[in-house]
Amino acid sequence: MIICKTKSEIRALMTQWRQEGQTIGAVPTMGALHEGHLSLIDVAARECDRVVASVFVNPLQFAPHEDFDAYPRDLESDGAMLSGRGCQALFAPERVSLFPADFSTNISVAGVGENHCAIARPHFFDGVATIVAKLLLILRPDVAVFGEKDFQQLAVIRRMVRDLDVDVRILGGPTVREADGLAMSSRNQYLSADERAIAPALFRTIRQAGERVSAPGAKWSEIGAWATGEILAAGFTSVDYVDFVDAATLEMIDQAGPEGRILTAARLGETRLIDNIAVAPSQVD
Ligand code: PAF
Repeated sequence: MIICKTKSEIRALMTQWRQEGQTIGAVPTMGALHEGHLSLIDVAARECDRVVASVFVNPLQFAPHEDFDAYPRDLESDGAMLSGRGCQALFAPERVSLFPADFSTNISVAGVGENHCAIARPHFFDGVATIVAKLLLILRPDVAVFGEKDFQQLAVIRRMVRDLDVDVRILGGPTVREADGLAMSSRNQYLSADERAIAPALFRTIRQAGERVSAPGAKWSEIGAWATGEILAAGFTSVDYVDFVDAATLEMIDQAGPEGRILTAARLGETRLIDNIAVAPSQVD
């Protein structure tokens, strides 16, 4: 696997691949890789001739009080995992090469970038949209793959790409879960043993909520309140939200339709976990 630390190196490699007639799949990440990320490499490899991953802990998407400094970083281990999975190139830029001191551009996506996670993290989606736009302009891939675990992030990226006419196909990769249902996340490593035992309650609860909201006449206004209580009763410290939304617009809905999605974020001690599930059409009456 070729490792490029500068924009000029990665641009030269991408140009070479394109000149050779190879299609390019990109998997942007912040590192601390796990099987969830590697499954996105598999998606990119199925769709394209060559796969490039990026590892960059993006300062724009962290508020000053958040875990930017503590965010796990292990480029050596990330590189070994990527190359073991058949990824052909890794772009791992330094902060200064992406952000000059007077960097002053911000991409903000209204609508799908509001509510849900944006309430507790108002800066977050602007930071994601801005860095992803930069990475797409640097790499110019045919396809870029992002995890469905960050469902609102995926919606924001799709909308940004559509609105700005970025010439790339965005694909979502299914959430990969531990055996007990906990969605894989780089932040799971923050959990203590006691918190780790509580954590699967988040997925368990939204799955049960999905079954409940599928019943004829069921209303999310009641089920959402029940789900919040269940998550707290399991031992979570607080619940940011448990929302039932239309999967395309992310607007709140009260009754199941063909494209429902339950989105949630809750805090367990210092760690904020997110998850989501589709409320499958088969569950809808
Ligand atoms: O999902 C992530 O790892 C990050 O938010 C992303 C998309 C790489 C942007 O920094």
